[in-house]
Amino acid sequence: MAETDCIHVSTPVGGYDILFAPGGLQHLDQILAARGLTGRTIVGTNTTLAPLYGRALAGQLPNAVTVTLPDGEQHKTLETCRVVYSGLAQLGLDRHGLIIALGGGVIGDLLGFVAATYMRGVRLVQVPTSLLAMVDSSVGGKTGVDLPEGKNLVGAFKQPELVVIDPDVLQTLPDIEWRCGLAEVIKHGLLADPALLDSALLQRERAAEFIPRAVRVKVEVVQQDPFEQNIRAHLNLGHTFAHALEQVSGYTWKHGEAVAVGLVAAARLSARLGLCSPDLPAQVERLLGKVGLPVRFGPYDPANLWQAMAVDKKWQDGRNRFVLLQGIGAPVVRDNVPPEEVMAVLKELADQP
Ligand SMILES: NC(=O)c1ccc[n+]([C@@H]2O[C@H](COP(=O)([O-])OP(=O)(O)OC[C@H]3O[C@@H](n4cnc5c(N)ncnc54)[C@H](O)[C@@H]3O)[C@@H](O)[C@H]2O)c1
Ligand SMILES: [Zn+2]
Repeated sequence: MAETDCIHVSTPVGGYDILFAPGGLQHLDQILAARGLTGRTIVGTNTTLAPLYGRALAGQLPNAVTVTLPDGEQHKTLETCRVVYSGLAQLGLDRHGLIIALGGGVIGDLLGFVAATYMRGVRLVQVPTSLLAMVDSSVGGKTGVDLPEGKNLVGAFKQPELVVIDPDVLQTLPDIEWRCGLAEVIKHGLLADPALLDSALLQRERAAEFIPRAVRVKVEVVQQDPFEQNIRAHLNLGHTFAHALEQVSGYTWKHGEAVAVGLVAAARLSARLGLCSPDLPAQVERLLGKVGLPVRFGPYDPANLWQAMAVDKKWQDGRNRFVLLQGIGAPVVRDNVPPEEVMAVLKELADQP
């Protein structure tokens, strides 16, 4: 069994490993048994992933049952949790049980929240299957669900016992989901690892090479700031713009695509404010374009985008706040950025074809 790479994450409530194991899903039983992660096991997944991986996985594990949820962010709700809680109770899962979250960020967030709350907490193993979940959502312990009033408004910190990343499952990931994950990888590259800013590396066949690097960036940040009190904000690079675009588009823009444009906007704003080299925005745009991600907002009114940003929950006391770049690997948080500078960036990105 080839365990190629392993990152240990320290948290205030203990630590856990992130295991990079190409083909690891084929022998997850041995991986779990070697770590004492045995007992009554629930493989929580969705209708897309159950036939691809979920059923085979549950068949391989002693004492495991599959719980299959509908696919989609619209099901990341308390109502779905309630159905899962009842299912777990009927299956007789007690507090010694184990939940394996097998899926993208939606499954990881929802089942992580269930694992945090069912019987005041049961053990959790994250098996992320989307690129975004591998490099972003499965690391850091944030779990939760959406409310009609907004995304991720209910949640908990829940550290897993183990995260197992098997890049082989990415072969079935739809192209658009792949690209959306790349937007977060590029964000991590801009924050801390310039080696990730190479389009030749960001190919599916090289996933096993670059994913550990991208994960390491997030691990470093969350270890320093486990409860999101300071530098974890850096992970929001591009996201203030992205959330505005998602909202103004009525969520027709996918998150990763919006993040791509948001990264361009953050780079342009940084250059305008004289924080970074004037060449940085073009470099960011070139890379995003090469991997097939959008670099323009499209036909949205800059005033509406600004309005959407102004209600962002992270802007305290009426002051605006942006994560900007002093260069690659040098993020900085700035409050009170002159609104006309932001507006100028919004106009540049909305006007050009
Ligand atoms: N907890 C955190 O820190 C954190 C961070 C970032 C994002 N998130 C959350 O993550 C969610 C987005 O995650 P996502 O982008 O993975 O979306 P997702 O979970 O909806 O997955 C995207 C699609 O890809 C499919 N899929 C996933 N893996 C596949 C595979 N290997 N083969 C075939 N199909 C596959 C899924 O079934 C789904 O249809 C959002 O709800 C977001 O709020 C959480
Ligand atoms: Zn994101």
